[in-house]
Amino acid sequence: MKVLLVGATGNLGIRLVAALLTHGHSVVAFVRSSKKLESLLPASVYRQITVVQGDATDSISIKKAILESSCDAVVNTAGLAAILPWGRSELPAIFRAVLDAVREAGLDRQKPLRAWFLAGMGVLYYPGSESMLSNYLPIYLEHRQNLRLLQSLPSNTVDWSALCPGTMVPESSHFNVPTTSSRGKLIANAASPPSWKDSWIKHIPLIGMTLLSGMNMGRYETSLEQNAEFIASDLETYESQWSGTTVGIIDGSK
Ligand SMILES: NC(=O)c1ccc[n+]([C@@H]2O[C@H](COP(=O)([O-])OP(=O)(O)OC[C@H]3O[C@@H](n4cnc5c(N)ncnc54)[C@H](OP(=O)(O)O)[C@@H]3O)[C@@H](O)[C@H]2O)c1
Repeated sequence: MKVLLVGATGNLGIRLVAALLTHGHSVVAFVRSSKKLESLLPASVYRQITVVQGDATDSISIKKAILESSCDAVVNTAGLAAILPWGRSELPAIFRAVLDAVREAGLDRQKPLRAWFLAGMGVLYYPGSESMLSNYLPIYLEHRQNLRLLQSLPSNTVDWSALCPGTMVPESSHFNVPTTSSRGKLIANAASPPSWKDSWIKHIPLIGMTLLSGMNMGRYETSLEQNAEFIASDLETYESQWSGTTVGIIDGSK
């Protein structure tokens, strides 16, 4: 596919450049600074991509980049959610702008675009319930409002998925193509985290669910490379089993 990658200079974005190329995609990187992107990538990789400079809060520029480059898919890794409930970041404005651009570009070309967005584990449901994990651990709450935007879209306007990782750590700072990873593939699950460990602890009045959620969180650390590989691999086909859903993941090799 031809993929517009918004936020290609970030921790996940830079690894997605390499992973998307490894999976045979064409990459159009949408970044604030092409110089920064060029400084991060090996010259042999930078030469293989198209770069568009712009601000990710500017929906019109993003839509123009999608249509002028004839992109089939968009991946947004731009913006970083504020940790604390009262914190504010640019992520909600970026998310809305990218989503508007994707939706409008799809309307213009009369075919919805495929789009991957990043959220966090907090928007996944506690297994077996319809209560979000962030009800028990109220951090990174901006992802909740972003998800509401996705869920309120009229059907057949954006073919979206939202990846909901726990902490992502780097395996390497070399971004060569093809990519290599010392870890295996991720195990994924729609709407709630895979392989959740249940315990009697959840029955402790008032704090049980929070304690158990906190105890589980550490088990969901994955690498940035694994997440990049997951998205790049999913985009190999137009039909995705993750369409219209949040996706929880765990490192199956641990
Ligand atoms: N890292 C984690 O452990 C983790 C875990 C769960 C979820 N997430 C979510 O995953 C996403 C990616 O995380 P990350 O660690 O890769 O983030 P990151 O390293 O902070 O990257 C953020 C990217 O956003 C770009 N950006 C910010 N504002 C922009 C704007 N106005 N216009 C264009 N680009 C803009 C930055 O560009 P510049 O280089 O120009 O600043 C950078 O490329 C985030 O939404 C985060 O909340 C991360």
